[in-house]
Amino acid sequence: MIKYRPEKDMDHDAIFETNKLAFPEDNEARLVDMLRNSKSYVNGLSIVAEKEGEVVGHILFTKLTIGSPKGDFVALSLAPLAVKPNFQRKGIGSGLIKEGIKNCKSLGYKAIVVVGHPEYYPRFGFSSAREKGLETPFPVPDEAFMVYELVPGYLDNIQGMVKLAPEFDEFI
Ligand SMILES: CC(C)(COP(=O)(O)OP(=O)(O)OC[C@H]1O[C@@H](n2cnc3c(N)ncnc32)[C@H](O)[C@@H]1OP(=O)(O)O)[C@@H](O)C(=O)NCCC(=O)NCCS
Repeated sequence: MIKYRPEKDMDHDAIFETNKLAFPEDNEARLVDMLRNSKSYVNGLSIVAEKEGEVVGHILFTKLTIGSPKGDFVALSLAPLAVKPNFQRKGIGSGLIKEGIKNCKSLGYKAIVVVGHPEYYPRFGFSSAREKGLETPFPVPDEAFMVYELVPGYLDNIQGMVKLAPEFDEFI
C-alpha cells in the first residue's frame, strides 16, 4: 500500500536519496534542495510516495512565470519526478503525478509545465506546450515540452516565454 503525502522536514535526506538513486547523478537531488530554499517553492507541492515508512518516490512542483505581452502569469513546473529503481513500473510515478495534479488544482494554480518523456506525460493529460503558444529560452525538443491546463482553456489567451526559477539555470 502506497501513501502519498506532502514532504515533512524529516524527509529531506530520504528525498535526496530517492532522486540520487533514480537519476544517473545527484544533480536532481541537489536541485530539489536548492528549490526547497527558493522563492519558487510551494508548501504542499513537494510530495512523497511512502511504502511501509520508506520514501520510495518523490515529485516536486515549483512556481514559474509565463512572460506574455499581457504581463507575467504564474504557473507551475513539474520537476523532478523520481521513483527508486526497485519500485519503478508499479504505478508509483503515476500516483505521484495524479496526487500532484490534485494538490496543484486545490491550491488554485492554472497550468503545469513539464519537460520530460513524451511517451509518459500525455497519459495524464499533458500535451504540446508549443502548440499552446509557449516557448522556452533554452532548446527543448517539441515533443518533450508539455503543459497541462488545470483550468481548461487557461492558455487560450496567454502565450509567451516560460521562465523557470533561477535555481534551474545550472542544471539546464
Ligand atoms: C519516470 C519514472 C518517474 C516513472 O515512474 P514509475 O513509477 O516507474 O512509473 P509508473 O509505474 O507509474 O508507469 C510506468 C510506465 O511509465 C513509462 N515509463 C517509465 N519509465 C519511462 C522512461 N524512462 N521513458 C518513457 N516511459 C517510461 C512506461 O510506459 C511504463 O509503462 P510500462 O511499465 O507498461 O512500460 C521513473 O521511471 C523514474 O524515476 N525514472 C528515472 C528518473 C526520471 O526519468 N524521471 C522523470 C524525468 S521526466
